[in-house]
Amino acid sequence: MAKPKKTAKANKGRKIAFFDTTLRDGEQAPGFSMSAEEKLMMAGALCDLGVDVIEAGFAAASPGDADGVRRIASEIEGPTICSLSRATENDIRTAGRALEPAGKSRIHIFLGTSPIHRSAKLNMSTDEVLAAIHRSVSLAATHCDEVEFSAEDAIRTEREFLVEALECAAKAGARVLNVPDTVGYTTPDEIYDLFSHLIAKVGGTENAIFSAHCHDDLGMAVANSLAAVRAGAMQVEGAINGIGERAGNCALEEVMMVFATRKDLFNVDIDIDTTKIYPASRMLSKMTGNPVPRNKAIVGRNAFAHEAGIHQHGVLNDRRTYEIMTPEDIGLPGNALILGKHSGKHALAARAKELGFEIDDDRLAAVFIAFKAMADQFGEIADAQLIELISGVTGSASAVWRLKRVEMRAAYGAQAEPFARVELEHPERGMVTDIATGEGPIHAAFNAVQHITGMSATVEELEINHVGAKGRTDCIADIVLRINGTRFGGRSRTRDVIPAGVEAYVDAINRAAAAQNRDAFGQEKASTTTDDAKDAA
Ligand code: KIV
Ligand code: ZN
Repeated sequence: MAKPKKTAKANKGRKIAFFDTTLRDGEQAPGFSMSAEEKLMMAGALCDLGVDVIEAGFAAASPGDADGVRRIASEIEGPTICSLSRATENDIRTAGRALEPAGKSRIHIFLGTSPIHRSAKLNMSTDEVLAAIHRSVSLAATHCDEVEFSAEDAIRTEREFLVEALECAAKAGARVLNVPDTVGYTTPDEIYDLFSHLIAKVGGTENAIFSAHCHDDLGMAVANSLAAVRAGAMQVEGAINGIGERAGNCALEEVMMVFATRKDLFNVDIDIDTTKIYPASRMLSKMTGNPVPRNKAIVGRNAFAHEAGIHQHGVLNDRRTYEIMTPEDIGLPGNALILGKHSGKHALAARAKELGFEIDDDRLAAVFIAFKAMADQFGEIADAQLIELISGVTGSASAVWRLKRVEMRAAYGAQAEPFARVELEHPERGMVTDIATGEGPIHAAFNAVQHITGMSATVEELEINHVGAKGRTDCIADIVLRINGTRFGGRSRTRDVIPAGVEAYVDAINRAAAAQNRDAFGQEKASTTTDDAKDAA
């Protein structure tokens, strides 16, 4: 029978530890691998965030993994450094050696306990499983500061046997008893009931805590982890951006922000600096080349973006109308109002004012009509586009380059020299052509555009997506260039990848040129926050 639900009062002062497995469970997912150097950088970001435990890898998996764990153990101070280990002597000794330099070390032993794992994977009886748990946890305790034991596939393990297995681990010296939902199968009510049962029934746990490790196969990893905490779990395992095996692990940033935002429900203590969430999330997505989905909770680009006119009006009056937490809480810089076709005049006027334009009502009406037309075409309007638009409506000129033609040789190989021939048209300079080489054809085309326009730019971001509907597919390219220290965004939509990339590049160059023209007219210079806000991806 489940214990009654815990109230905020009962939870007061209870410290919940965050066990981050971005570098182990996260990294082992296809498409998320990181080099030892990258893992070390990511461990630094996790340390800044304040996680209690960093699972740095699985030392026995490969010499590279062992090296990665050792480097993190040597260079990261503060959190406990952990290595995963099977319940074998060789794995445990390898993990122990890799962890030697750590200030605080933990070996994390896992062994399948469910009927399907025992029969199909381990070919072991329940007695053999118990003996292996006892042997491995006792040995590991002599090789590190503390041992965590995971009953792999705990959720599908018979309750009585799970109690026995965890008790065996606790008696052998495990300080953390992890109850993984390895296959992402459970629900909040079920896991609440299971944790309540285990906490009541497992003996020998005076010096041990219970931990939740939930996978997201049915989309409930965060909800399940929170339910486990409500039932008494003292550690939550997961990964930044929710990366991990299959559908991923519990997204730690979501649990952190639940604790920070719903103190009325979860009055627990955590050691997290939530303003380091966004930098850690961004570093991970850049490092692994996996963009965070736009609508992802907490760290997605839309998480703090308001576009609908009614919402923007409310937020301008008082952010709390539509915000339960602020972008600053997670360390996200910049303005959260996205200007697009749903935006109203209030938001347009407010952004124009921030950019240094005082527009009277008549001019605002004219700018608003032009803005809506532009938003229909582009979707989201960046500040640089708005500046150009206001300047245009108010009469200042901006030179516009147009891509007329691009040809390229996409050679690849040691001796290959990709090149591109680009033809741009300008209202005053007419047709101008240039041929340039580059690391690849698209870079060669960018170089040619630089030669023609005389603008030197570095590409900071380039994202090209195929979008298709009703039998037609297009490529949408979004680019961010840095030009003289300022970031400018560009966008284009065409039928193919190459012209989309080059057109977006030219688009960003045009915005930079417009900003320079505005300087010549003695007006406000384009703000660097422009594309940083857009960059909140
Ligand atoms: O999901 C799982 O069961 C694991 C264990 C190794 C803890 O990742
Ligand atoms: Zn896992």
